[in-house]
Amino acid sequence: MFKSFRWRIALWFVGLSSLVYMLLSVVGGFCFYSILSRSMDDELKMVASQIGHAIDLSGERPTFRDWLRVVETEPARSVMSMQLFDPEGRLLERYGPAGIPRLLPGLSEFTEGSQVLRVRQSKLLYRGKLVGYLQLQLPAEKRALMTREFLYTMGIMAPFVLLAFGLCSYAVSGIAARPIEDLVSTLKRFVADAGHELNTPASVVRARAQSLESKLEKQGIVSEDLKLISMSAERMGLIVHDLMLLAELEAAPVRAGAASRELRLDQVVMRVFERFATRFESSGLKTHLDLVPVTIEADVESMERIVGNLMDNALKYTENGGDVWIALKIHRNEVELSVRDSGIGIPSEHQSRIFERFYRVDKSRSRISGGSGLGLAIVKALVEGAGGRVSLESKWQEGSTFFVYLPLHRTVGAARKLHAMNE
Ligand SMILES: Nc1ncnc2c1ncn2[C@@H]1O[C@H](COP(=O)(O)OP(=O)(O)OP(=O)(O)O)[C@@H](O)[C@H]1O
Ligand SMILES: [Mg+2]
Repeated sequence: MFKSFRWRIALWFVGLSSLVYMLLSVVGGFCFYSILSRSMDDELKMVASQIGHAIDLSGERPTFRDWLRVVETEPARSVMSMQLFDPEGRLLERYGPAGIPRLLPGLSEFTEGSQVLRVRQSKLLYRGKLVGYLQLQLPAEKRALMTREFLYTMGIMAPFVLLAFGLCSYAVSGIAARPIEDLVSTLKRFVADAGHELNTPASVVRARAQSLESKLEKQGIVSEDLKLISMSAERMGLIVHDLMLLAELEAAPVRAGAASRELRLDQVVMRVFERFATRFESSGLKTHLDLVPVTIEADVESMERIVGNLMDNALKYTENGGDVWIALKIHRNEVELSVRDSGIGIPSEHQSRIFERFYRVDKSRSRISGGSGLGLAIVKALVEGAGGRVSLESKWQEGSTFFVYLPLHRTVGAARKLHAMNE
């Protein structure tokens, strides 16, 4: 239980961390892109200020006057296109690789085909008069390449980072779960110990009440109080017994038990049914059996308990005149036992909790019928201990079908405890 809890926490953590990591990568990529854009702008600004003195503005039109200086002082020239335009936007001169030969007013970035250029354009004034424009263009391929590399690196690192997160969260969830684990095992121990401690006094009360009842009956005295005491003691004994069984099944659900053996499940069902036959009859229920011969490896007492609890429920929760169907079907790898009734049904909002211990739909009704709400919890624990599973289909006021699926050819030993407890 705690192992799966730890794994669940770790998986949740890894899932959430993946999302955060993805988000961080995208945000990081975006920031990286913006920083690179800004650094390109800074570079353009710097170059623009450095080559300002290399432009001759005194003539009719601006010209680069000192190429050698520009080439020497400006290493970025090899990737940058520098262009001079007249006030009408005609290209006058160009230096560096061919760029886009026109004015691009108000744009900091320009895309043409696959080419993306970062642009800086400034007016050239001579004695307060506009004589032309200086335009610098810087290809943005490097920025795209570096951003791609950043994202690629984040992607490559992702599995390692997430693995590290997963391992850390698994370790941390173990530490966090320890107090809960201790608490639950203390509770389980408490239930088992309390069960053992209550078992003896409950049996004594039951035995003494019954013997007193029979003594009084011999004297012609019928005591309703004593009957109630004896019935309650009986019920208490059954609850204690069921609780102890559940506690043991939870402590070790699967054991290669000595009691597991090959058995004919259809014969077990038939045997249990015969035990219930008179109760079905006196409750006015019509029963329908559809059994196929099937052999499984399991514990007889577990199987009897599973079938018995389901039949008991069908009996208790089906009105007089109703029907109960009991069937066995063989699937590829498993055998399906179904117990269907046309009884009161279980409202859908209760169905997910019905296999929990002490869970009852209608507590007052269950109390009247003597139910404590442990029957289905035991069925589930025994079936799961046997490597099987349970499921339920039910409609309020229409009836319920309980399904038990048990693996074929599997060693089952869960109910060895039943023997131990009955000894
Ligand atoms: N066949 C059914 N039809 C309708 N309701 C059912 C049926 N089986 C179980 N339930 C509901 O599920 C609850 C739990 O069943 P469960 O067998 O665990 O307990 P119980 O029958 O009340 O008591 P116990 O079996 O311990 O004597 C019942 O109280 C009842 O409300
Ligand atoms: Mg029951």
